[in-house]
Amino acid sequence: MSSSDRAEIRVLAISGSLRRASSNTALLRAAALLAPPGTTIELFEGLDELPHFNPDREHEACPALDRLRRAVAACDGLLFSTPEYAHGVPGSLKNALDWLVGGHEFTGKPVAVLNPSPHSTFAVASLVETVRTMSGRLVEAGSTTVALRSSKLSPEAIAAHADVAPAIRGALGAFARAIEAYRCDPNYLPPTREP
Ligand SMILES: Cc1cc2nc3c(=O)[nH]c(=O)nc-3n(C[C@H](O)[C@H](O)[C@H](O)COP(=O)(O)O)c2cc1C
Repeated sequence: MSSSDRAEIRVLAISGSLRRASSNTALLRAAALLAPPGTTIELFEGLDELPHFNPDREHEACPALDRLRRAVAACDGLLFSTPEYAHGVPGSLKNALDWLVGGHEFTGKPVAVLNPSPHSTFAVASLVETVRTMSGRLVEAGSTTVALRSSKLSPEAIAAHADVAPAIRGALGAFARAIEAYRCDPNYLPPTREP
């Protein structure tokens, strides 16, 4: 089957950084440029509009939460990239995930994680633990750590970077193949790394 025969794969990208010049957000925007044919990667913007998670308010109307829940429900897979703050996941990202715990939107979604810093291992490990606990399907072969080194690279510069672009492209290809495999077989188990 060629890529043109397949239904489009829609990936929702979520950055754990609210910074305007965020390297994690730039990495996700670069991923959108490097996505394989038939795959679109759209960045979710609005983490900072979400209220603080409070189980008492889970059933209240909230446009910002509706937007998050609709975007997660509509995607075929989720791609994260997050900074590490004091060895943890930024509160704004964990807050967004906490709002999704009680719903059905996240359950069973294929998930991949990009990491722009080899030093930041705690936040990725914590995010992976949360994703698995929330019944997301982590695709290890679709996840990768790169060394961006500079936090000032534009998405275009990252996408053209000889040291990091091939790893991102490879991970995204593996992620798209895993999403495709889940479509055919919901019990598919992704390889821990590409064969
Ligand atoms: C408050 C704060 C705490 C941080 N703690 C860590 C840490 O524990 N480990 C680490 O590797 N980097 C840490 N950093 C560095 C950030 O993870 C790093 O600057 C990251 O690239 C920022 O991502 P961004 O450019 O997407 O905003 C910290 C930065 C800040 C501002």
